[in-house]
Amino acid sequence: MHCIDKDELLRIVQQNISPKRFVHTMGVCKLSVELAKCYGSDPQKAWIASLLHDFKKTISISESNELVKRYGLDEKYIDNQNLAHSKLAAISANEDFGIEDPDILNAISYHTTGRAGMSLLEKIVFVADTCEEGRTYKEAAKLRKDAFRDLDGVCIFILEYIKSSLEDKGKKVDEDTLDALEFFKSKL
Ligand SMILES: [Fe+2]
Ligand SMILES: [Fe+2]
Repeated sequence: MHCIDKDELLRIVQQNISPKRFVHTMGVCKLSVELAKCYGSDPQKAWIASLLHDFKKTISISESNELVKRYGLDEKYIDNQNLAHSKLAAISANEDFGIEDPDILNAISYHTTGRAGMSLLEKIVFVADTCEEGRTYKEAAKLRKDAFRDLDGVCIFILEYIKSSLEDKGKKVDEDTLDALEFFKSKL
C-alpha cells in the first residue's frame, strides 16, 4: 500500500468515472475517514477502499459482462451491474493498483451487499456509501449522524432497506445481504 501515490490514484479515478460518480466517491471518502477516526479503524485504508469502491460502476453492461466472464465470476453477476461492480472494483484494485490488503479488498467487494462477519472497515465503507452527504433520501442525514454512535444499528437499517426495496421490485435479495442481516441480528 505504501507504494501507491494518493494523488496519482485520485487522478486516475477522477479520469475514469463520471463527474457525478466522482462527487459521490469523494463524499464516501470523507465520511468513511471520519468514521474510521471515530471507531479507531485505519483512515488511510478507509480512504482507499472508498476511492475505489465504485471504480467499475459506470462501465457498459457489455464490458461488465465480459469482465464477469473473464474472471470466472458467478452467473448471477451477468446482466447485474448493481452486484457486479463491487466485485469488479475489488479485482481492479488488486490487479490495476496493486492493493493486496484483504480488508480493503473486502470492503470494496461487499460494499453493495454487506456480508456475515463484516469487519469494522467493511461496515464503515458500507455505511459511508449509503449515507454520504450527497445522499438526499429522507433518512440520510439521521443515519449519517447515528453512524457515529451506532454503526451496527445503521448497518441493520440499510440491510433491511436493501432487502425490502429489492422485494418490492420482485428482485432476488443476494445471499450475502440475507446472511449479513442474520449476522447482525444474532449479535443483538
Ligand atoms: Fe457501488
Ligand atoms: Fe457508491
